[in-house]
Amino acid sequence: MTGTHRQVDGVSLKRIDTHRWWRDAVIYQVYVRSFLDSTGDGIGDLAGVRAGLPYLKKLGVDGIWLSPFYPSPQHDHGYDVADYCGVDPVFGDLDEFDRLMATARRLGIRVLLDIVPNHCSSEHPWFREALASPPGSPARARFHFADGRGPDGSEPPNNWHAMFGGPAWSRVTEADGRPGQWYLHMFTPEQPDWSWRNPEIPAEFERILRFWLDRGVDGFRIDVAAGLYKHPELPDSDDPEADARTRDSVNPLAWNQPEVHDVWRHWRAICEEYTARDGHDRLLVGEVSVPSAREHAKYVRPDELHQAFFFDLLSAPWEADAFRKVISEAMEDIAGTGSTVTWVLNNHDQVRTVTRYGEPTPQGSGLGAARARAAALLMLALPGAAYIYQGEELGLPEVVDLPDDVLTDPIFRRTGSRARIRDGCRVPLPWSGQASPFGFTSGAESAKPWLPQPEYFAMYTTDRALDDTRSFWHLYRDGLQLRSALPQLGEGTLHWLESEPGVLAFDRGDGLVCAVNFTTADIPAPVPGAPLLASGPCPAGVLPGSTAAWWLTDH
Ligand code: NOJ
Repeated sequence: MTGTHRQVDGVSLKRIDTHRWWRDAVIYQVYVRSFLDSTGDGIGDLAGVRAGLPYLKKLGVDGIWLSPFYPSPQHDHGYDVADYCGVDPVFGDLDEFDRLMATARRLGIRVLLDIVPNHCSSEHPWFREALASPPGSPARARFHFADGRGPDGSEPPNNWHAMFGGPAWSRVTEADGRPGQWYLHMFTPEQPDWSWRNPEIPAEFERILRFWLDRGVDGFRIDVAAGLYKHPELPDSDDPEADARTRDSVNPLAWNQPEVHDVWRHWRAICEEYTARDGHDRLLVGEVSVPSAREHAKYVRPDELHQAFFFDLLSAPWEADAFRKVISEAMEDIAGTGSTVTWVLNNHDQVRTVTRYGEPTPQGSGLGAARARAAALLMLALPGAAYIYQGEELGLPEVVDLPDDVLTDPIFRRTGSRARIRDGCRVPLPWSGQASPFGFTSGAESAKPWLPQPEYFAMYTTDRALDDTRSFWHLYRDGLQLRSALPQLGEGTLHWLESEPGVLAFDRGDGLVCAVNFTTADIPAPVPGAPLLASGPCPAGVLPGSTAAWWLTDH
């Protein structure tokens, strides 16, 4: 056939639900505050997630990862946790969480929570206690408190920069009203870093893990998993300017310390303990930003994290050679550990693919959309697990023209408004209708989503996507169905096939071939016959520009 999609309904599902479910799972990232609002306050919540689960079941994902919903002052949208074992009233309560778990369980959707062990909120009771306690007290020893430098201690204890701009230290006012010690925060001042060398901290996180595991969660996405430990002496960095590059984990004194691996070994042992009880694997997937695929591989050694996001794919430019290089490195270094590569193209911190791969026009571009569709088929054909960020399945573009006064990302504020990075991919999802709130909020038509939705979101509603067989949604759904149906698309290896410049082609075994044309010109298809699935119109014998396709050949 020459159409975009082949009907794959009715293909028998061959995936076997083994205890190793995570190895080739497709997980959907739910950014809770922007998914679906059940209360009409303009902010998504857990009841909204529960209501959306049938939609995700239809899409065909294996599980969801919920962004942090814990009590938090929301300085970094929940990545500033004030209570690790609760639910912020904005998102619901523990009973609602339990109802969500029950529905997910009934639908066969696994649930991962987002755990934030590098830092907490400045409103966490232990940090408040530290502020109220004197220098040298046990309460301060849970964090990194230090005296300042200079005659009056008015200079920070070292020259480190925070990831979100500005110095990594803030000075406190002591009980007597005088300026006092400084505390370390690698992100914002509202996110003090824990001191993992203090045994109270690993013990507390073990309690937190068990709290949620006992409530039935299937695992955790671990925030800043290369963080936690700092160099014990907290020395000056040789290259503070390089460290200042916002959102790049380059300060080797603050990240990727060898001791962090002990934490992951311990957490893995806790998960194995639960698996030993019921035979069901729990998953630890780390957000690991380190300088190379080789360093990354250390985090997924057999007794450490099950998986770690592989961001090199996400940061690769739209060029065949760049993609081939990162894919080859991942397969060599990460798959070599026995883990599976965890592919990701989008998340809540990055410009969406449709915009990233195209021209930065407000509504995205045809070229960006075509490339984003091709990238999706490529990702879903790679061996290992894949993560889809909400709205990716709708082909949502980045909202690039949000006015300054609605932006909430602390990076924007802390970099003197230079970096407009993360709000544009967090705009609430459009579900239905012709005007904002597009069914996002159950409130009145006048209810305002927490970030404004552009008018053109009318073209991207889930209702519309489900009705249109040429939509992104159908491409993702068909790709996910084929992944379930065809064992070749599970974990395993890939073999590169010879291809023209600007084209990647690989074989997944048993006749399954995927090819991607990164150029804008048509090329002869590397495989004769009609594709099984293609990201755009794809007549037999031709692979059009900016298109990916899968074929099943008589090998
Ligand atoms: C990574 C998360 O993805 C990001 O959203 C957050 O701001 C930082 N970690 C700090 O927790």
